[in-house]
This record gives sequence, structure tokens and C-alpha cells, in this order.
Amino acid sequence: MSNDPYADPYALATDAATALRSATGVDSFDVALVMGSGWVPAADAIGETVAEIPVTDLPGFTPAAVAGHAGRIRAVRTASGANALIFLGRTHLYEGRGVEPVVHGVRTAIKAGVRTVVLTNAAGGLRPETQRVGEAILISDHINLTGANPLSGATFIDLTEVYSRRLRTLVREVEPGMAEGVYIAFRGPTYETPAEIQMCRGFGGDMVGMSTVLEAIAAREGGAEVLGISLVTNPGAGLVGEPLNHQEVLEVGRATATRMGDLLAKVVGKL
Ligand code: HPA
Repeated sequence: MSNDPYADPYALATDAATALRSATGVDSFDVALVMGSGWVPAADAIGETVAEIPVTDLPGFTPAAVAGHAGRIRAVRTASGANALIFLGRTHLYEGRGVEPVVHGVRTAIKAGVRTVVLTNAAGGLRPETQRVGEAILISDHINLTGANPLSGATFIDLTEVYSRRLRTLVREVEPGMAEGVYIAFRGPTYETPAEIQMCRGFGGDMVGMSTVLEAIAAREGGAEVLGISLVTNPGAGLVGEPLNHQEVLEVGRATATRMGDLLAKVVGKL
């Protein structure tokens, strides 16, 4: 017997989904939303709370390690009658617990019936020429520079369309002018150097952050459709000459929470 709780991550996710069903009284969920830095207050707009539990009540979840990441799971009934599972905070690779805890939420959601995964994050903007702080941008594709992957072995899954074109089109019915862009993920926890930011621009990136890509891969592996949205909280390091800090990231989230919540509620209503 192994002492590693993630030795069989899919069995652990099945156990967590069973515990989730009995803790929330919801038999099957339709959509999961992962609320990144600054996005947590936006969750209130999505629907009526049915139940809310600390993540640590479920097998395989670790306590929140970062300010702004609440570490709770909320079951919500939307106005259109869908069952939404909202993760108020996420586990990051930079916390040093390995890749399995990072994707455990998405795997649990899929075992609990979810077919649509909405991943939100806070990101540095790589194109201040065209982007505004406080702007939400659809993720069209990603570049994974974390050095990690939630899959191992000969799992050569196709990543041609990680972020569903259909869902992006649907969001644009709600928010016609919304831009899209390529999200580049680093492991963190440091912010990038100005040289790394210039590299990312040269690579064709539009946003930079420390999350989302591993969860998106796990969601695709599980057969779910993925919608990714970045909230630009700052220009990337060195682009405007100001140092970066996490407080600024959270403040931009707070300032735009109502707008982001309305957007998510409308999008979820259309799913
Ligand atoms: N870099 C990485 N992650 C981030 C940033 C950034 O500039 N802003 C918010 N999250």
C-alpha cells in the first residue's frame, strides 16, 4: 500500500465526488467554475447558494495557502435551473504540493457530472498597447511553461482546441467586444522578469499567469468543454516601470467583481 493519497488520483476524485454529493445534497452538477485571484466576490452573482463547505471536508483537498483564495466550495442553483459547482479559490503549482492537488478540483467536478469547466484567473497583460487593467479577456489558447503536466504515460491527448470555440462564441453573444488571447503560464511564485515578459510577447502571448493550464488539460482529458477568462490586473513586469504586488491584483478583482459576476451569470445562463 502506498501512503501517497494521489497514488490513484481518479479513484480519489471519485471518492471526493461522492462526499460532495452527500455534503451538498446535489446529485449531479452541470458546470464548474474555478474562481481565481480577485474573482471570488464575483461568485455571488451566479445563483442561489444551496450549500457551501470548506474544501478540506472532501478527500484530497488541501487548505488554502494564498490570500484571496478562500478554499471553499459552493453549490449553486442558477436562474436557468442548472447546478453549478463553484470553487472559491484553487491550489497552485507554486505551493509545492505537486501537480495532483492542482487538478483534483477539476477531476472531482467531472466525476460529479460536470461537462463544462469555467476557469478564471488574474493575469498580467502582455499588450498594454491594446489592453486595459480591469479588462476580461477570453483565453483562446495557452503556452504551458510550468514544466508540469497532470498526465503521465502515453496519454497523447489532442490539445488543438483546449478552450472551446463554441463557448467563446457564446460569451461574445453576451459581451460582443470581448478580446481573446493566448495565456502563458509559469510555475511562479515569483512574478516574471522583464526579459521573460519580452520573451512571452515574442512567443505570441497576450496574458501571463501562474494557473489555469494544468486544470484545462485535466478538464480536456476528462472530456469537458473549457472556457477560460483572464482578468488583466496589471501590465507585465517592466512594461510600465512599476513593481508588481499581490494586493494590486486583489484590488483590481474587487473593483471589477460585480461586472465579472454579471458576465459569468449571463454566460452560465446560456450553457
Ligand atoms: N504575472 C503572473 N501572474 C500574475 C500576474 C503577472 O503579472 N498578474 C496577476 N497574476
